[in-house]
Amino acid sequence: MSTLGDLIVRHGALPPRDVEWLHLLVGDWQLIADLAFADLVLWLPTAAGGFVAVAQARPSTGATVHYDDVVGSMAPEGLRPQLERAIADVAIQRSREPRWFGTYAVREEAVPVVHEGRAIAVVARQTNLGGVRTPSRLELNYVEAADDLLGMVSRGEFPSPDSATGPRRGAPRVGDGLIRLNSEGEVLYASPNALSCFHRLGVLGSLVGQSLAQVTTALLEDHSAVDESLPLVVMGRAPWRTDIEARGVCISLRAVPLVERGQRIGAVLLCRDVSELRRRERELLSKEATIREIHHRVKNNLQTVAALLRLQARRMQSPEARAALEEAMRRVSTIALVHETLSQALDEAVDFDELVDRSLRLAADVASAGQVPVRTVRTGTFGMVPAEGATALALVLTELVTNAVEHGLARSGGGTVEVIAERSGAHLRTVVSDDGAGVDPEHGPMSGLGTQIVETLVRHELRGSIEWSPRPGGGTQVILDMELRDRRREA
Ligand SMILES: Nc1ncnc2c1ncn2[C@@H]1O[C@H](COP(=O)(O)OP(=O)(O)O)[C@@H](O)[C@H]1O
Ligand SMILES: [Mg+2]
Repeated sequence: MSTLGDLIVRHGALPPRDVEWLHLLVGDWQLIADLAFADLVLWLPTAAGGFVAVAQARPSTGATVHYDDVVGSMAPEGLRPQLERAIADVAIQRSREPRWFGTYAVREEAVPVVHEGRAIAVVARQTNLGGVRTPSRLELNYVEAADDLLGMVSRGEFPSPDSATGPRRGAPRVGDGLIRLNSEGEVLYASPNALSCFHRLGVLGSLVGQSLAQVTTALLEDHSAVDESLPLVVMGRAPWRTDIEARGVCISLRAVPLVERGQRIGAVLLCRDVSELRRRERELLSKEATIREIHHRVKNNLQTVAALLRLQARRMQSPEARAALEEAMRRVSTIALVHETLSQALDEAVDFDELVDRSLRLAADVASAGQVPVRTVRTGTFGMVPAEGATALALVLTELVTNAVEHGLARSGGGTVEVIAERSGAHLRTVVSDDGAGVDPEHGPMSGLGTQIVETLVRHELRGSIEWSPRPGGGTQVILDMELRDRRREA
């Protein structure tokens, strides 16, 4: 499906500022659809004549007219004169007779979208009259607010460029609770949900006729931390969003000021109880920080262990004992590296490429000890690897790279170690190859501690398969196949 931006570019020649205006409108017009109990379609005049639908919103409060998507289609003949007149007269057009769509009647209105004095598009408002009874007070209040807002659209006063429609979670919608204010900031109407919100904050009785600013100030009297945007929001003067907290309850409040030719005529306030949401956010935040901190400490402890092993290795007389301790040190350092990565980006998965690049260099440096020239390359990408398997995989790779340098390249006087990652979905194939001397057949089957560690980890931790073979062109290649999965999540 095409996006609003694509469609505008394909069909019209609007300057970027107008395009931005339409984006802004569509970003915020669900509010109007909900208040109006109506479907909204944004019609853009095309260069070739006629109108194309570039966006559509259905009411979440009532029945829709368009069961199918209309976006991308041209306006039907019957609708065109009304749309054309809305643009030409720069005024809202109302049809006298409802139009019939099969079995149900639809009331239609065409609202010019005005920006910088010009009508650049038309919003068609279509109300399904199928279920119309005598409207309730709630419905009357909603529809009046919708009328006000569409009036603003037709005068270039809505959307509001500095309104707060950011991604912050918990933005209230019409169904969550609605309050209408007059130009003095007094409550004209509060929906049952809005009243419940304020009751939870400690406001008793009806709000109608009271100044919302006074009511909320009284609530907050003994609370020092007040968002400076709060007074402007509760008076309905700024199109912003804020939270009110009292008695352990948190209400998210959004104001939509209503204006007519620059004069304030009132405001619509949406409110929603977000106590639970905010509490969970705070909890998550602290849990994340804790896990990160623990990974950090594990890394520090492992580095200490590695340092102790190095100290001990230096004191060894026997070269064998010394090499063994150095190897143990190298293995512990590899695990520390994984925890360092985990402590930086807290995720269920590790960005493995960076980790491989670091441990590849580290392993090659340690193994060759500068005695032969060693080049290391990584080809392809591992992508994200579930945290659970990351340690085992890192250890296996270090062993293989160490062997490639220690046994393959050392005997051939240097060369290249290449780690190739081929990832397709959950399957990961890793190839570690070197262009060294190759596995010496005289030695019989490979049997060192390194091989044992690798085979145990591959079989039991990674549940994969591994195979050593001579590399075409000389040297050794090791192929490791495995499925990446998060067993904790599956459990
Ligand atoms: N890439 C390689 N090139 C040549 N020989 C290798 C390679 N990998 C392993 N080997 C052989 O396999 C043996 C076992 O390796 P490993 O189990 O890691 O023990 P260690 O490295 O302690 O000798 C090595 O001693 C070496 O002979
Ligand atoms: Mg080894």
